[in-house]
Amino acid sequence: MNYTKIYTEQARRYVKAINGKKGEVAWQSPSNIALVKYWGKRHNQIPENPSISFTLSESYTQTRVLYEVGMSGRLIFRFNGQANPVFGKRINSYLDNISVFFPFITNISLEIHSTNSFPHSSGIASSASAFSALALCICQIEQQLFGLNESPEAFFTKASFMARLGSGSAARSLFPEMALWGKSAFYPQSSNEVAIVLTDYHKVFSRFHDSILLIDEGQKTVSSTVGHGLMHANPYAKQRFQQANNHIALLQEVLKSGDVMRFAELVEQEALTLHAMMLASSPGYLLFKPGTIAVIDKIRNFRNSNHVPICFTLDAGANVHCLYPEENEHAVKKFIESELLAYCSQNKVIHDKVGEGAVQI
Ligand code: DP6
Repeated sequence: MNYTKIYTEQARRYVKAINGKKGEVAWQSPSNIALVKYWGKRHNQIPENPSISFTLSESYTQTRVLYEVGMSGRLIFRFNGQANPVFGKRINSYLDNISVFFPFITNISLEIHSTNSFPHSSGIASSASAFSALALCICQIEQQLFGLNESPEAFFTKASFMARLGSGSAARSLFPEMALWGKSAFYPQSSNEVAIVLTDYHKVFSRFHDSILLIDEGQKTVSSTVGHGLMHANPYAKQRFQQANNHIALLQEVLKSGDVMRFAELVEQEALTLHAMMLASSPGYLLFKPGTIAVIDKIRNFRNSNHVPICFTLDAGANVHCLYPEENEHAVKKFIESELLAYCSQNKVIHDKVGEGAVQI
C-alpha cells in the first residue's frame, strides 16, 4: 500500500470547501510508551526501524478545533487556555506541511484549544498525544467539509499517517492497547507510513501497568528530533537498526506466549540500547540523572529477589517507566512507595496503564 499516493490523489478531489462553512471537532488522544524503540529516521518521517508501543490511558491530550472556511489561514492556538508561541509555531509549520494532503487548510481559519492531563513540562513526551489528537481533528474536519464516509479503520489509518508527519511516535498513539509502526517482515500489514494495531497477544499485556517515575521535570538538554538526526553519523546505527528488527520478531513471540520475564529482559535491553546510542553519538550525550540509575538498579533487584516480572523502560529522557502486570499491582505500588518515590521530583509518580486509544469527545 502506498499511502502517500492514495492521500495525494484524495487531496486532488477535495480541494475547496464551501465558503462560510464552519464547525467544531474534538478528540482525546493518549501518549504511548515504546517497547521496541524508534530512534533514527529518514526524510519525511520514515523510520529506520519498526517500533512497538503500549498505548497509555491516563496521559493524554484533549484538542478542540473550531473552523471556518474562507478566512485564509488564520490560526489561533491556546494551550491550557493560554497563548503558547513555541507550540504555535510548530503547529503552524505542521499545518503547512500537511497542506499537500489537505489543500483546504490554506483557506480556513482554525482556533485550536489543547490541554494535557499530565503536568506541563513534567518531562513526559507530549508530542505523541498532541499530534495524534490534532491529526484526528484535521481528518474529521475534512470528513465534515466534504461529506466523506470512510470506515473507522480507514479514518484512523489516515490520521496515523498525518500524526506521523507531526511526530513519528504520534503515528502509534491512536490505536487501542498496542501498535506497530514501520515495515517489518514479521507483520505483513506493517508500513513505514502508518502504524497498525496489534491484536495477536496474550491477555496479560492488555492489562499492563506503567507507573511513570518523574525523576526530572526539566526540559531535555537534547530534543528527540536532534537525537534522531545524530543517528545518521552514529557508527553503531546499522547494527542498532538490525537489532531493532530482530527484537520485533522476539517480542512477537513473547507477546503471544505471555512470558513476562522474557518480556522484561527484552524491554530493558531496548531502553538501554536507546541510551547507548545517545552515548555513542557525536557529540555524545547523557540524559540519565543519578536518580534514573538508582531506580533502574532497584527495579532489577526487586525483580530478581521477588520474582515479580517488573521492568523499566525509558524514552529520550531521565524519567523511568516502570512496567508490570496487573496482578502485581499491589506489591509493585508498595515497592514504589517505599523505595522509589524518594528519587522522584517532589515524590511525583503517574500511575498509568495500557489504554483504549483515541476517542472523540
Ligand atoms: C525515544 O517521535 O518524539 O520516544 O519524530 O522527531 O517527533 P520525532 O521524534 P519522537 O521520538 C520518540 C523517540 C522515543 C522512542 C519511541 O517513542 O519509539
